[in-house]
Amino acid sequence: MSAGAAVNSSDADRPIGVFDSGVGGLSVLNALRAELPHERFVYFADTAHAPYGERGDAFVAKRTTAIARHLIDAHGIKALVVACNTATAAAIHQVRAAYPTLPVIGVEPALKPAVALSKTGHIAVIATRVTLESRKFEALHGSLAAQAHFHIVPCDGLAGAIERAESDRIAALCEKYLGAAGAFGDQPGQIDTLVLGCTHYPFITGELRRWTGHAVRFIDTGAPVAQQTRRLLLNDGQLQAGGTGGVLMLSSAEPGALDAAAARWLDGSVDRAIGARVADTTAA
Ligand code: DGL
Repeated sequence: MSAGAAVNSSDADRPIGVFDSGVGGLSVLNALRAELPHERFVYFADTAHAPYGERGDAFVAKRTTAIARHLIDAHGIKALVVACNTATAAAIHQVRAAYPTLPVIGVEPALKPAVALSKTGHIAVIATRVTLESRKFEALHGSLAAQAHFHIVPCDGLAGAIERAESDRIAALCEKYLGAAGAFGDQPGQIDTLVLGCTHYPFITGELRRWTGHAVRFIDTGAPVAQQTRRLLLNDGQLQAGGTGGVLMLSSAEPGALDAAAARWLDGSVDRAIGARVADTTAA
């Protein structure tokens, strides 16, 4: 299928593509499978190029568009979930422009729900640098800045440490970044809400809690993204009515790491991860 080609609206059987720089999108895939148990998913981890968060926008945009094209051409996906805040910020507009009839669902830090839930009006946002320095985030933050005090913390290295399951480094980085965010708690002036603005972070909530304490509410975007995916498929008549579902796992690097992460973090069984090389058409 070429750029802009129409999606056959009668074929609800086709899988849903889910993509992240690496293992982080598995947190979104869990929510998608819970919400859409009859659907088949193709999960693509761009492990060979992870993490994205400290790379340039142009690099992330090239990888995102190349992977979207691969999932459409090789797997005939009926919708794409960009399960990566960084790729959403850098490139979702390009994917939507290239494939205007394909439902494309992105993720972004949940600032709005955080404003609605916070009682102290102090909200910490942790995410990658590319996400936090993007125009998309700037616009979102700007639209809500009068309603709460946001403590914004770029967490360089954290997604990479989670990707490689480096527990000592994860602990050290959590201490460093949450220590810099401000005082956590539910008393006036304290941060009572933490926005997990990277899909890798739901896998380290235990470590994050060590620094925030238990009064702080964590917000991630898996469930709302899954609900939005269901709505779009329903509107398009593309929802799978029956079937047992399933997940095909693809990695752009040696697939063992993705297999191990899936065994550790994914709810339910999956097909074994296999390698899938997706080359950019232009040099990164
Ligand atoms: N999991 C991704 C996100 O939500 C990307 C992290 C990274 O590759 O740096 O931003």
